[in-house]
Amino acid sequence: EKEIACEKDLKGKKILVTAGPTQEAIDPVRYITNHSSGKMGYSVAKAAMLRGADVTLVSGRTAIEPPMFVKVVPIVTAKEMFDAVTSVSDEQDIIIKAAAVADYRPAVVSSEKVKKKDGEMSIALERTDDILKYLGEHKKENQFLCGFSMETQNMVSNSRAKLEKKNLDMIAANNVKEKGAGFQGDTNVLTLITQEEETSLPLMSKEDAANQLLDKILMLTSNQN
Ligand code: CTP
Ligand code: CA
Repeated sequence: EKEIACEKDLKGKKILVTAGPTQEAIDPVRYITNHSSGKMGYSVAKAAMLRGADVTLVSGRTAIEPPMFVKVVPIVTAKEMFDAVTSVSDEQDIIIKAAAVADYRPAVVSSEKVKKKDGEMSIALERTDDILKYLGEHKKENQFLCGFSMETQNMVSNSRAKLEKKNLDMIAANNVKEKGAGFQGDTNVLTLITQEEETSLPLMSKEDAANQLLDKILMLTSNQN
C-alpha cells in the first residue's frame, strides 16, 4: 500500500501544522466561527507523518479524526491557538498554517445567556492576534513558514500581499468560489506562491495536494542549504 511504500524524505524534520476553525464565544451557548473542516490541515499532518516527520498538529474543533502518530494539541479559540503555536514554534523546521483563525472575537463574553429583546442588536468585536504574522516576525534561521490563503477574488495578488506582510516563505492560495476547492470537500485547487514563483496545481484530493505542498517545501529547503 501507498502508505507503507512512502519514502521517509521528511525524517528528522519537526513540522508544526495548524488546522480547523477557531470558535470565539459570544455567551455560554453561542459562538462565531467559519466553515473550515480541518481536512486540508489534517491531510498535511498525515502526509508529513507518513514521510517520517515529527509532527505536531494544533487543531480547532473539527468533526474528523486526527491522524495517528502525530502530537495533537486541541484548542478552541484564536488566543489558545496563539499560545499553543508560539510555545512550540521555536523548535520547528517547518510551520504550515492551514487553520482558519477568526480575525475578530466578541470584545466582551457574556457569562450568562444573552436574552433576546425587541429590535436589532449588535455585538462589539475586537481583533485577534495574527499568529502567522507573529511567527514571521520571530522566524528562526532556516525555519520555513507556509501560510494558507482563502480568497473569493484577486486570489494571487491578495495572497502575495499576505506573503510579504507576514514574512512567509510560501503561501498556498485557494479560491473558495472555485469548484472543488476550499473548506468542506475532499479536494482542493491550490496555487503555491513564493517570492520567485507561482505553481498552479490542478484539482486533486486534499491528500495529494498535501503531498505536492510538502514536495515543494522540501525542494525549496534543500536548495537553500
Ligand atoms: N492567520 C493567523 N492568525 C490570524 C489570522 C490568520 O495565523 N489571526 C493565518 C491563517 O492561518 C492563514 C493565513 O494567516 O495561514 C492567512 O489567513 P487569511 O484569513 O486568508 O488572511 P488574513 O491575513 O486574515 O486576511 P483576510 O482574512 O482579511 O483575507
Ligand atoms: Ca482572516
